[in-house]
Amino acid sequence: MPRKIIIFDTTLRDGEQCPGASLNKEEKLEIARHLAKLNVDAIEAGFAIASPGDFDSVKSIAQQIKGPIICSLARAKKEDITTAYDAVKHSARPRIHVFLATSPIHMEKKLRMTPDEVFNTAVEMVKFAKSLCTDIEFSPEDAGRSDPVFLKKVIAGVIEAGATTVNVPDTVGYTSPWEFGSLIEEIIRDVPQIKEKGIIVSVHCHNDLGLATINSLAAIRAGANQVECTINGIGERAGNASLEEVVMNLVTRKDFFNCETNINTKEIYKTSRLVSTLTSLLVQPNKAIVGANAFAHEAGIHQAGVLRARETYEIMKPEDIGLTESRLVLGKHSGRNAFADRLKDMGYNIQDEALEKAFAKFKEIADKKKDVTERDLEAIVANEAYVDKEFFSIESIEVESGTSKKPKATVVLKHESKIISETSTGAGPVDAVYSAIDKIVQQNVGAQNIELVDYIIQAITGGTDAQGEVKVRIKDAKDNIYAGHGSDTDIIIASAKAYLSAINRLLFTIS
Ligand code: KIV
Ligand code: ZN
Repeated sequence: MPRKIIIFDTTLRDGEQCPGASLNKEEKLEIARHLAKLNVDAIEAGFAIASPGDFDSVKSIAQQIKGPIICSLARAKKEDITTAYDAVKHSARPRIHVFLATSPIHMEKKLRMTPDEVFNTAVEMVKFAKSLCTDIEFSPEDAGRSDPVFLKKVIAGVIEAGATTVNVPDTVGYTSPWEFGSLIEEIIRDVPQIKEKGIIVSVHCHNDLGLATINSLAAIRAGANQVECTINGIGERAGNASLEEVVMNLVTRKDFFNCETNINTKEIYKTSRLVSTLTSLLVQPNKAIVGANAFAHEAGIHQAGVLRARETYEIMKPEDIGLTESRLVLGKHSGRNAFADRLKDMGYNIQDEALEKAFAKFKEIADKKKDVTERDLEAIVANEAYVDKEFFSIESIEVESGTSKKPKATVVLKHESKIISETSTGAGPVDAVYSAIDKIVQQNVGAQNIELVDYIIQAITGGTDAQGEVKVRIKDAKDNIYAGHGSDTDIIIASAKAYLSAINRLLFTIS
């Protein structure tokens, strides 16, 4: 009988800690809806105490998303725990996730606490959390570099205090799969309360040395029954274990692991694309499972093999992760109802103003582009429906460029019902547009010292009339990163939208 592995998704918490990946409430809700369709067992919806915005997002997810456990992270402090509970209590299945570091370096340098103080605080705070909520998870942060004897003492203590899940994080991605597997085995063997009380042993691996997935799998082999992971492996620094990698390993090598999950793998690809667009974090083309090349066969010898029998070079089928031909969905004569129905079929739940904006954009694209496919609709929704307050929006853009011309752009933006125009030149048309935008922003809201950090452009579908999707990251004078994205059949407009969406996010954050 295969063992059930609980999939705990932390895209909206650890994933969102990735620089510039911050998401607004509507974006988080849409990702949470996709995670529920993917059938994850638990969603870590955020860190409720971090800001009023975070609290509000966790609360909305707890109120609206049915099915998975909804969890908030909390430091081992009463105020954090109460706030986490206030946010998740609206869910039918609330969980509080309390953490406190147990490694010598974290206890000494960060917490300035003795091991005894850490032990007592962990136990007291888990007791307090338990007085509010029955489902309590505890994480000894930096477990991978903790003294195993002390670690096991803390784990036994928090279980006695009421924790029902103990999560073992390799916070800095330091351990090797052999060490991490042995550590999990040792914890399960030496902490009798785990078996006696049927405690879930969870793992949370970071990818600093590229080992997050293999460490998670080694832990599963050693007896762990919950894995914390994120879509596309996003997260702090080099990220977390990637959900799609862990799950597809368990599916593809069920013969070896003899484990299964509740994940509906056919939702993987769609969820990956949504997360990539909304966080503006590109999925590398050779990324396992969801990268653009993951199922592409370039070498002639591979192509010949696959044509004769797919299994010669393919161990998974693209359909297994929901990667199918992007279907033609609507035409330029399709009305609002057909558009809304189609989005609902695709798993989106947008309404009112957001639906109107997306529909208007669809009409514009349908006029310019022969075939409007599901991928186009996904991009329209992701780029139009969830925008923050628009401090600046595009009225018009005119660009002149060519082999014998200095690129020049005239940009007209709307700001608080004022229409402002600026003209600028640049090294290329995008540079000229960005320079005109910078001038307008500076004149109207003061110098923001914006620096462009990354600019990435991709075609959403094939064909020369495809929409281009641009992802940018900008930074302010304090090195805070803000991401933005935009799509359009005209790549200059897509570039302007992406830049403005990052600027609007910056202004929204500091407002
Ligand atoms: O990496 C880590 O240790 C964490 C904990 C809060 C679980 O994210
Ligand atoms: Zn983490």
